[in-house]
Amino acid sequence: MLKHLTIFSLLALMSSCASTDKPEDKLSGSVDSLLSLMTLEEKIGQLSLYTSDWDVTGPTMREGYKEDIRKGRVGAIFNAFTAKYTRELQQLAVEQTRLKIPLLFGYDVVHGHRTIFPIPLGQAASWDMEAIERADRIAAEEASAEGIHWTFAPMVDIARDPRWGRMAEGSGEDTYLGSQIAAARVRGFQGKGYGDVGAVLACVKHFAAYGAPQAGREYHSVDMSERMFRDVYLPPYAAAVKAGSATVMSSFNDYDGVPATASEYLLNEVLRKELKFDGFVVSDYTSVMELIPHGVAADTASAAALALTAGLDMDMQAGFYQDALPRLVKEGKIKESLIDQSVRRILRKKFELGLFKDPYRFSDTQREQSTVMKPEFLEAARDMSRKSIVLLKNEGGDKAILPLSKNVKQLAVIGPLANARRDMIGSWSAAGDWKKSVTLLEGIKAAVSPATKVSYAKGCSITGDSTQYLAEAIRLARQADVVVLAVGEGGLMTGEAASRTSLDLPGIQQRLVEEIQKTGKPVVVVLMNGRPLTITWINDHAPAILETWYLGTQAGHAIADVLFGDYNPSGKLPVTFPRVVGQVPIYYSMKNTGRPLEVNNKYTSKYIDEVNTPLYPFGYGLSYTTFSYEAPVLSSNTMTSRDTLDVSVKITNSGSKEGVEVVQLYVKDEVGSVTRPVMELKGFQKVSLKPGESKEIHFRLCNSDLSFYRKDMTFGSEPGKFRVFAGGNSRDVKQAEFELK
Ligand code: BGC
Repeated sequence: MLKHLTIFSLLALMSSCASTDKPEDKLSGSVDSLLSLMTLEEKIGQLSLYTSDWDVTGPTMREGYKEDIRKGRVGAIFNAFTAKYTRELQQLAVEQTRLKIPLLFGYDVVHGHRTIFPIPLGQAASWDMEAIERADRIAAEEASAEGIHWTFAPMVDIARDPRWGRMAEGSGEDTYLGSQIAAARVRGFQGKGYGDVGAVLACVKHFAAYGAPQAGREYHSVDMSERMFRDVYLPPYAAAVKAGSATVMSSFNDYDGVPATASEYLLNEVLRKELKFDGFVVSDYTSVMELIPHGVAADTASAAALALTAGLDMDMQAGFYQDALPRLVKEGKIKESLIDQSVRRILRKKFELGLFKDPYRFSDTQREQSTVMKPEFLEAARDMSRKSIVLLKNEGGDKAILPLSKNVKQLAVIGPLANARRDMIGSWSAAGDWKKSVTLLEGIKAAVSPATKVSYAKGCSITGDSTQYLAEAIRLARQADVVVLAVGEGGLMTGEAASRTSLDLPGIQQRLVEEIQKTGKPVVVVLMNGRPLTITWINDHAPAILETWYLGTQAGHAIADVLFGDYNPSGKLPVTFPRVVGQVPIYYSMKNTGRPLEVNNKYTSKYIDEVNTPLYPFGYGLSYTTFSYEAPVLSSNTMTSRDTLDVSVKITNSGSKEGVEVVQLYVKDEVGSVTRPVMELKGFQKVSLKPGESKEIHFRLCNSDLSFYRKDMTFGSEPGKFRVFAGGNSRDVKQAEFELK
């Protein structure tokens, strides 16, 4: 299939006018000589990854696994950290095995290691590549100081269905933004390169298309057109590979009927041949075993054979390679050379990390002590958190409720998430200690002047239907001058295995909001959630709404910075907010259809019970100031596929405060050989402007920005008319047009 797709077409798809160089290969000699000494069992050991266990005091390990390490039957361990513990396990490998091959330690360092940063969806709302890269640099510094070599991140799965809980772990709905972030995160984790002791190997996941399970239900089948896959879902993985991601994780889902873990097409054809990935591929947790319930393998042996043949190098946690490969080789069903190929890929990373020179170089107690949760890391986390906050509503112009005065007399902080320490760090929070996170209540108390009396009531629980705390919350609200009301989902209601059929506030929180609103007091709603929620009622009634995701260790301080105006919010939604769950999947870069919406024509593409438009569009977010845009000006009204086009956008701070705006550039291909999206993001820049100040922002469009998978599945552009849109979100835009000759 798709033989005519060239490597060059795919590299071009990564939407950059530049290219990268691969490091020179100097290690194959060392890898080969080591390989020549290895028994089959030792080789298979390198293909096996097992988890450490968990205890209240931290990670521990069953004797059986330790014995596997001593026997050389396991080459990598995950969920083990701290300099001391990884050193202990490493000693087993290095001092007690025949060939002294060091272990590789992996861990899910997803949004910080000890210092927890906002969940990835929140970080994506910053649209700030430098800040995102820095967050992962810090995560890598902390993790590597605790003996970790390898993170199972970034997760770059495009997600357009908020029912799927893992949307929280990615960068949202957009291919371009997602690809920029994928690359930034790989750069952040891998720092100066493989072997830098302050860095970890990245593992881009989950390859591929894991973000599109049917009906948003976790682990469900993925079935999409090849065109959709290549145009929308593949580019972020490609961008991560291009940025040098050392490893890739296969996904749980099937794709076009074949589970990704056993998909030769995905792993060998697309990933290795087209994207030129040369690291190793690890399965997701027991996904080799899951080939049996998927119904493509009848038993352990056929599952192991299918996965290895498909190009899956390392088996996470299933133990199927360990159990089945020795016999498969003896029976001649699997060639040892196939195993050698995977072992080579894994050993190479161990060499690149410098583990053969010093297997303990990452397990450094002193570095651990001086690195973990440094004040400057906490400051960076606070900054990243502020940048991730999105102001969704602040009605009233000059009289708007936000920012609040620090001298307000009575401030009531209400809601089940107002003082919810555990929830602040969200899911996949690695070795983050939730007890060290700052709640909203604490952040507010630390920010206000001594003249302010801050009261607090929970109001209700996050879930459940008990009304016992409501009355107290209403009483406090009545006494207050202003109410800050924190509602949303529990920190673990998103992440893996957290699909929902409703996007409403869980429990009786909606009732709490309505009761507080009834008091007539000015209310600022602070949302905490890992996916868009359907908050139409709140939008219709509350004067101010802040989207704060789960902001991590410094959450409370960061939210207070925004509430009281010490920081002017600049976040923009990386995902569309529907009005009702029935609109999903809803995303801005949809197709026009043959019957685009006409309000008064029944037979056009719409619902009979709800409008088509979202509550908040992709790219949306307000500021305490306002910005006005002029229509984009193009350097020419024609271009050829060899030219670049300069797009200049004049933007003015038309309000009274200094602020930062994310200027967004979208493109529409008017007529194609296949249907094209109504618009696609092709550039963005963050710009800071003083009141009254104007700036001209320049973007450069080149042929790859106009390219897509054409009718014949070749990648490229097509001549014709294009529209260019610029604005502060995907809805409110000004436009210009040009022709591609
Ligand atoms: C998740 C992966 C994760 C792995 C190891 C799996 O359940 O899908 O994202 O890296 O566990 O913890």
